[in-house]
Amino acid sequence: EAGALWGGRFAGGPSPELAALSKSTQFDWQLAAYDIAGSRAHATALAAAGYLSEAELGAMLEALAALDTAVATGEFVADDADEDVHSALERGLIERAGPELGGKLRAGRSRNDQIATLVRLYLRDHAGVIAEQLIALIDAIASQADAHPTAILPGRTHLQHAQPVLLAHHLLAHCWPLVRDLERLADWDKRANVSPYGSGALAGSTLGLDAKLVASELGFAHSVENSIDGTASRDVVAEFAFIAAQIGIDLSRFAEEIIIWNTREFGFVTLDDSYSTGSSIMPQKKNPDIAELARGKAGRLIGNLTGLLTTLKGLPLAYNRDLQEDKEPVFDSVTTLEVVLPAFTGMVATMRFHTERMAELAPQGFSLATDVAEWLVKRRVPFRDAHEITGTLVRFAEERGLELADLDDAQLASVSPLLTPDVRDILTIEGSVASRDGIGGTAPERVREQLSALTERVRML
Ligand code: ARG
Repeated sequence: EAGALWGGRFAGGPSPELAALSKSTQFDWQLAAYDIAGSRAHATALAAAGYLSEAELGAMLEALAALDTAVATGEFVADDADEDVHSALERGLIERAGPELGGKLRAGRSRNDQIATLVRLYLRDHAGVIAEQLIALIDAIASQADAHPTAILPGRTHLQHAQPVLLAHHLLAHCWPLVRDLERLADWDKRANVSPYGSGALAGSTLGLDAKLVASELGFAHSVENSIDGTASRDVVAEFAFIAAQIGIDLSRFAEEIIIWNTREFGFVTLDDSYSTGSSIMPQKKNPDIAELARGKAGRLIGNLTGLLTTLKGLPLAYNRDLQEDKEPVFDSVTTLEVVLPAFTGMVATMRFHTERMAELAPQGFSLATDVAEWLVKRRVPFRDAHEITGTLVRFAEERGLELADLDDAQLASVSPLLTPDVRDILTIEGSVASRDGIGGTAPERVREQLSALTERVRML
């Protein structure tokens, strides 16, 4: 059969059912340019080992360049008979270099070491794209923090009012996980920066080809130490899928807050029209679909990771065809992130904060109670007693439908003689925030430092 890479030992061609199941060009065609790059490097190694003459190498590289262009322009595409990207491209090479020369390139390599290498090339390229997109998002969040240096947000635990914090502090708390995701991608690359080319089907090759030469032609710093590991492992792919899922989760947690902030009840933010959607029936609606899609797609990213891990579990060494199932999930994770991240960044960059609304709610729900307790501690009251006194004060106020700042001198004294009128001086949200000035605290001064530390950390990457 024309395009097949195997067939000699078979009396007939594959059944249509097998061909339909086995076919992977519908997704591995994305690897075509990387396959050709691998072929170029492999041709160089074949020539260096004496399997191609200088003239043959020249002709081979010319044919590969022509094929590369034909793929890029869409003039050459996989056809129905092609099993995978490798078989299709061999067909394309033979069409351009002739069967004699074109048939020489396959020596000393297998689709098993090819595919393991190509997936890494693809992922390393896209890791670069995703890192750039993450940096843009971190910049957008950090710019919002920078633009709101004193705005107050009701800080929450259990979604209940807890303590007031700076909006900037809260926003930066969404940046740090993304910074760690960036660092994860950089760290992942140490393991991805190793070429499996030369591992052959599983045991290497007898031809004495220079795997290090191939590796460096393809931009890898190293070549694998073990040909079985080179063809059978996919932990580097799974680790990438994990990082993608973690990025999805980090976006999803922020998305959930934006959705809540954007409700009428909260009224903390307004999303820009160009980053919101309408309803086909309710004319008044303006929906936070970007945040919802980001939240929803986190599920898909997690699914891709768990699907891949499940495929790998229990697979004996070395290559098994199950490994073909690594690509669709991880490709999907890449495509998903590459479309979610820019939209999310645009939404964040154009989001307007209603700082008066946030400031108005911040002192409610007795969010300054901890400040009162710590004020007592500064007067050398044991914290256990301070906690008890403040708790009684909260109950006293709550029963009367008052906030702490509304209580008069006599009411304060009736709860405890230790609650002298000057306690009211600390019952302001600005004072509360400013006094949390330890390392990592929400005081404006600390948050300013934090912003520079964050910028510096991203710049170092
Ligand atoms: N398409 C396969 C994959 O994605 C590579 C081909 C290996 N095929 C084989 N029969 N050994 O993993």
